[in-house]
Amino acid sequence: MQFKAVIPAAGEGRRLKPHTHTTPKILLQVAGKPIIGHIMDRLLPARPDEVIVVVGAQGDQVKQYLLGEYRCPFRFVQQTDPKGLGDAVYRAKDSFAGEPILVLLGDTIVDLDMSKMVGRDNVIGVKPVPDPRRFGIVELQGKYVRRLVEKPERPKSNLAIVGVYFFRDSGLLFGALDRLIARGRKTRGEFQLTDALQLLIDSGMKIRTKVIEHWLDCGTRDAMLETNRYLLAQESYFKPRRDTVIVPPVFIHDSAKIQGSVVGPNVSIGAEAEIRGSIVSDSIINRRVVVEHALLQGSILGESSVVRDSPRKLNLGGFSELEVG
Ligand code: G1P
Repeated sequence: MQFKAVIPAAGEGRRLKPHTHTTPKILLQVAGKPIIGHIMDRLLPARPDEVIVVVGAQGDQVKQYLLGEYRCPFRFVQQTDPKGLGDAVYRAKDSFAGEPILVLLGDTIVDLDMSKMVGRDNVIGVKPVPDPRRFGIVELQGKYVRRLVEKPERPKSNLAIVGVYFFRDSGLLFGALDRLIARGRKTRGEFQLTDALQLLIDSGMKIRTKVIEHWLDCGTRDAMLETNRYLLAQESYFKPRRDTVIVPPVFIHDSAKIQGSVVGPNVSIGAEAEIRGSIVSDSIINRRVVVEHALLQGSILGESSVVRDSPRKLNLGGFSELEVG
């Protein structure tokens, strides 16, 4: 089926500072690839006619990565003053003439071949969660959505909106967003996609849900490390190195230099990183990081950071340096 995809990816990634000071959230690496790369790998089998990416302040980095890695018709639109997800999706309006639309939030990896979302019905991806208050939720009537509420204090359902949506008629979606924005109707200070969908339901649209089993959150450091473990378990990649013990699963970029170390399990090492005399497990080591004589576990080291003789648990942003002793 013909459709176009929209990826709102302008979020600042506040909870992932310091990493998002230098890198847009969707370019942060997990399992050897930026978050947006994992999203694209699941989107492309569904063959979208065009992928519209809504980018923020550091949009050029995103553009450069996507155009360098993927052969696919892209369009980039800017959202420099974030006014909410509803506003972000609305910025893609000019790319559409009523054709079906798939919306994939740029900060979540939904481990699903997206051709399973695209079809005859309007669908929202959901997952039952123990504490739905930090998400949008849906309430069902039979198999259709009756009500959607953005981050309710007293949720009447445990079905969280995971951030993948498919609609047969993008014209109706943009019409609802248009009404929301024209009336200045915000919830929690932002134009919410959730509110636009409620308008559609109120005017008779039928929307089904699809339960998404593997929803890989990348919103916090711990969530990123967990997603790293999950993705590495699916695909491990490394070439053996002399005088180094590698414990899979790992991702080790071919250009990374490793000597006299034990690496793994659950470690991703980016391009041109250097690891010497160290023991590293359960960590994400980005491009051009240097680690010497360190014991690291559960750590994320931003691009070009340097660690020598270090303690065990670190969360360093790009270009940080830490030396002990
Ligand atoms: C957005 C949506 C929310 C959804 C969530 C999933 O919220 O507004 O309905 O549950 O993504 O991650 P945000 O996380 O951008 O605040």
